[in-house]
Amino acid sequence: MITVSEDNVFSLTNKYFSYVFRVSPEGIPEHIHYGGALRDPLNVTAHHLRTQREVASTFQGGKFFSLSDTPQEYPSFGTSDYRFPALHGRNSDGNTVFSLHYKKHKITKEKKPLKDLPSTRGGACETLIVTLVDPLHKLEVELHYTIYEEFGVLVRSAKFRNKSETEIQLQHAFSTALDLPASDYEIMHFHGTWSREFNEERIDVPKGRFVVDSARGTSSAAHAPFVAILEKGSTEDAGRVYATTLVYSGNFAINIEKGEFEDVRVLAGINPFNFHWRLKPGKKFCTPEALHVYSDTGLRGMSRIWHDFIREKISPPNFKNKARPTYLNTWEAAYFDVNEDKVLALADKAKNVGVDMLVLDDGWFEGRKDDTSSLGDWVADTERFPNGIPWLAGKVKAKGLKFGIWFEPEMVNPKSMLFEKHPDWILHVPGREPSLGRNQLTLDLSRKEVTDYLFRKIDAILSCGDIDYVKWDMNRNMTEVGSAGLSRNRQREVSHRYMIGLYRLLRKLTQKYPNVLFENCASGGNRFDLGMLSFMPQTWTSDMCDPVGRLDIVNGASYLFPLDVMAAYVGPSPNHQNGRVSSIQTRFMAGVFCAARGMSLNETDLADNHNELKSLMAFAKESADDMVGGRFDRVIKNQNEVCWQYTTRDSSKVYLAYFHILSAPNLPFRRAHMVGLDPNAIYVLEEDGASYQGDALMQNGMPMPYVATGQVRDDVRYMSKGDFSSYLFVFEKAG
Ligand code: DGJ
Repeated sequence: MITVSEDNVFSLTNKYFSYVFRVSPEGIPEHIHYGGALRDPLNVTAHHLRTQREVASTFQGGKFFSLSDTPQEYPSFGTSDYRFPALHGRNSDGNTVFSLHYKKHKITKEKKPLKDLPSTRGGACETLIVTLVDPLHKLEVELHYTIYEEFGVLVRSAKFRNKSETEIQLQHAFSTALDLPASDYEIMHFHGTWSREFNEERIDVPKGRFVVDSARGTSSAAHAPFVAILEKGSTEDAGRVYATTLVYSGNFAINIEKGEFEDVRVLAGINPFNFHWRLKPGKKFCTPEALHVYSDTGLRGMSRIWHDFIREKISPPNFKNKARPTYLNTWEAAYFDVNEDKVLALADKAKNVGVDMLVLDDGWFEGRKDDTSSLGDWVADTERFPNGIPWLAGKVKAKGLKFGIWFEPEMVNPKSMLFEKHPDWILHVPGREPSLGRNQLTLDLSRKEVTDYLFRKIDAILSCGDIDYVKWDMNRNMTEVGSAGLSRNRQREVSHRYMIGLYRLLRKLTQKYPNVLFENCASGGNRFDLGMLSFMPQTWTSDMCDPVGRLDIVNGASYLFPLDVMAAYVGPSPNHQNGRVSSIQTRFMAGVFCAARGMSLNETDLADNHNELKSLMAFAKESADDMVGGRFDRVIKNQNEVCWQYTTRDSSKVYLAYFHILSAPNLPFRRAHMVGLDPNAIYVLEEDGASYQGDALMQNGMPMPYVATGQVRDDVRYMSKGDFSSYLFVFEKAG
C-alpha cells in the first residue's frame, strides 16, 4: 500500500484511492495527487507543472518556485506562500516564520493510538511517518498518514516536538493540509442549531476563504465538523468528492481557500482562533486526527465509505452489529416530574407495549425539580427516589426490562452542593461574572480533580451493576473559558485541555463498564462527531421528534454517519418543539431508519395509542438486528418527498420508506429507483407477496404509493390521506 521511490516520491495506494506526494528539490513535501487509484502512482510526478508567475515571490532564491503556487503537505507562512498555513506560531526569536524541510521517514505495518485523544483503530493498515524539521528553530513536525487495505479513508495527524532550548508557541497546528488542483468545485457542509441540526448547504467554492468552525467548546450543531469538496454538479451517483472530518469534539476549523491561482486548500484541525499552545523545550504536541475520503462515485459512494469505516474503526467494537434495545424515555413523558411510583408505572406500561428498556432522563437527583438546580451533585432525590437509583434499577429489571439513566456530568448549577464547595471548579476568568446557559455553568474538565470527582460520582451509580444504558448529555456552549488550574499564560490552552480531560473521563468509564450502552447527547446533535463516537455507540441525533423536522436532520446526518450510531423516538403530538400534529405512524417512521428506537410518551398517550404502539414496537424489536451493520441509501430528497432505502448487512432484506410531506390533488405517479440490489434476484414484498426483479427495481423503479385526496380504487396502493404521510415497503430477497 505504501511505496517510496529512491528520490522520495511517496505513494499511499489501495483499491479506493492513490495519495501521492514527493520531496521537492528544495526539500519541501509537495503534494502531487489525491484521487482514484493509479496503476503506477510513483510516476505521476511527471504530471506536475511549474511556471514562472508574474509578481510571485520566489522561495528563498529558488528559480520558478513560489510556495504560493505549490501544493504542499504541510504549509507554513512567511516564505512565499500567502495562503492560510497549517503551521503558524511564534519561534524563539519572537517572529512567526517557520520553514519545514524533509528530514526522514518511516513506514510501519500498524497504527498506534494517540495518547490523549481518541483515534481510529488499526488493523490491516500501514502508516507513513514523515519527519520535517525547521533547522533554524529546531521544531520537528511528524506527519502521520495511515492507509487501510479495506477502507477508502486516509487518516492524517501531526505531531510537534520542540527540540530547541527555548519555548515555541503554536497557534495553527492543523491536523491536515490538502491542496487540490484548480477546478470547478462546490462545497457541501451542514449547519444548524438546536432541534434543526444537519441542514445541507451546497455553494460554489468562493474565491477567498470559507471556514466552518466552532469556538463554542463543542464541535456543535451550528457548523458540523465535516466538509466535502465536490466536483461541480456531483450527484448521489456521480462526481468526484473529497470529504474531510475530524476525530475531535471541541473547537475545530475546516478552512477552504481558493487561492489566486484557483487551487483549493483544505485545512482541518483545532480552531486556531483562541488557541495557543506553549511548547516547552523537549515537549510534544499531538493534533487530533483528520480523516479524508475520496469517492469518484458521488455522494453515495462517499457515504458508503464513511459508514463502513465508522462502524469498523471508530465505534466501540463491543456494540458492533448488536441490536439496540427499544426504550421508553421519561423526558417528554414527564420532564422533571419524575418519582419512583411514576417511573415504575411507566415501566409497566413500557412492558405492556413490548419495549425493552426504561430510561430515566433528567430530574432524578436531589433538588432537581426544574433546570435551575442540582447539576453536579449526582445523588438521588431523597423525597422522590427514597430508595435510591440502584434499588429502582433492580425493580425495573425485575419486571424484565433493562434500565437506563441520564447524566449531564460536565455541568454544575450555581444552586448545588458541588458549586458551594468548589466555586473555582468551573470554567471562568477572574473578575467577570460567568454567563449562564440553561441556568448552568461548565465544569473545568481540564482539571484532574474535577474528572476524578465525576468518575467517582458516576461510578457510585453504575457499580450497582443494574445500569444498562447511560445518556450523556451536555446542554450549553462554553463561555468565559479560563481555568483556575492553569497559569495566566496557558489560558488559551483551556479548551483543548478540557477535551483531553473529557476523553480521559470517558475512557476510564467505558473501560470499566464495557457493556453499558452510552448514548451521546448535547441538546441533541450539538456534539455529534467522531470523537464522541469513539466512546459511545450511539447519539441522540436531535431533540426534534416531529417527523417533518426529523427527516431533514437524519438525511443530512446520513452523509457522514451510519444508522448504527443514531437514536430516535416517537414523541408526543402536537410536537413539543414545533407544534406540528402528525400520526403516530409517521412519527415512528421518521425514526425507523435508526439503530435505536423508542418512545417518550406519557401514560395517557401510551394508553390511548396502546395497540398501535404495541405493533410499532414489535416491528422495532423485530427489525432491531437488521438496523445495524447494513447499508443506507438516500433515494429521493426534495422539498416535499423523501425516500430512503436500507439493505440489511446480509442483503436478505430491503426496507424502503417513502414520506410525502404536503398533500395536493392530482399528483404525479412517482417511482423510486432502488440501489445496490442484486439485478438477478427476485425481491418479494412482505405485505402482499408480490415479486419484483432486482434489475427492474433499480432501472425502472418501484412505484410509490399514491397520495389520495379524493376517490380511491382497490387496485392502487395509497398513502394515508392528508399531510405528513408515510409508507414502508419491506422486501425479502428470494434468490
Ligand atoms: C436535552 C436532551 O436533548 C433531551 O433529550 C433531554 O435529555 C434534556 N436535555 C434533559 O434535560
